[in-house]
Amino acid sequence: MKVDGVAYRTIWVGEDGWSVHIIDQTRLPHAFATLRLTTLAEAAHAIRSMQVRGAPLVGATAAYGLCLALREDVSDAAIDAACALLLATRPTAVNLRWALDEMRASLRNRPHAERLRAAYGRAAALCDDDAATCEAIGEHGLKLIREAWEKKGRPERVNVLTHCNAGWLATVDWGTALAPIYKAFDAGVPVHVWVDETRPRNQGASLSAWELGRHGVPHTVIADNVGGHLMQHGLVDLCIVGTDRTAASGDVCNKIGTYLKALAAHDNGVPFYVALPHSTIDWSLEDGVRDIPIEERDAAEVTQITGRAPDGVVVTVRITPPGSAAANYAFDVTPARLVSGLVTERGVCPASRQGLLGLYPERA
Ligand code: MRU
Repeated sequence: MKVDGVAYRTIWVGEDGWSVHIIDQTRLPHAFATLRLTTLAEAAHAIRSMQVRGAPLVGATAAYGLCLALREDVSDAAIDAACALLLATRPTAVNLRWALDEMRASLRNRPHAERLRAAYGRAAALCDDDAATCEAIGEHGLKLIREAWEKKGRPERVNVLTHCNAGWLATVDWGTALAPIYKAFDAGVPVHVWVDETRPRNQGASLSAWELGRHGVPHTVIADNVGGHLMQHGLVDLCIVGTDRTAASGDVCNKIGTYLKALAAHDNGVPFYVALPHSTIDWSLEDGVRDIPIEERDAAEVTQITGRAPDGVVVTVRITPPGSAAANYAFDVTPARLVSGLVTERGVCPASRQGLLGLYPERA
């Protein structure tokens, strides 16, 4: 996608042919800055500190992190150690494990002399695949937005509610939940987006609002608790969110607060779709609520908030009384029964094992 007329992906290899460049998402929306990663440790730090975030981009960064590790040592032991370090950075998004498994498979049984080159080739292919996959998700999701618009008799606008950031910043390009919105906007469908702020890290207010604004998509940032009210008053035509891990049963794990939006959507008859690439499906899990590991992050993300002061300086301030405990569960799981459909690169399917197998029969 473009930033000030320049086409960007969220991760790319520098002109030197080996260093890895990212957009520092901790600086958005107040500054657009890029970072150059040169070591495994820097790549792991970028994931852990959420300079990069979003399930597909976490996977892509891990793939390139392994490439950086191989520059130092191409042995099996070094690959295992690098994968273990990267896997430990964030527990919930399964794309991390998927990307590292893909990388390992491409290196296994390869002569040492070929490994570095093969790793960079595979990481680039994973990134290209993610961009193409997300664009295809956009095409399939566009049909849902267009249908909602036409069903309403083509009003002035069709309202989509989204949570967190599942836009191009969360992937290599296009995004998952926001890809259909970009496709709809580009196709002339008058789409308007309700953007949940998404406390505590505000990925909606900071990142989704920023990227939608850059593309010119009309949007309104709302506090996390507003969605239910909007739905009761007919102001949401459909919800589209992303996911960090979807169980084979269709249970969907996504940013904390997604479940409450799904409950409100269910109660108000608002379609609730989840957009995801194949790399986000965990075929080994059946019960998402029981089995998906939920990341717990630093309580300071809850007790503090960061923003730009009137003098332009970005400051972090405390919003809770000293001494109050805070808990920071980063994700929740929406049971499949609350999901109207899964929007994948292969089409839209019911949120169920049978539905997923209809699109991915090779997994039967
Ligand atoms: O903690 P984050 O910012 O990495 O969480 C991101 C999300 O929850 C996204 O909705 C999810 O990764 C889907 S992104 C395509």
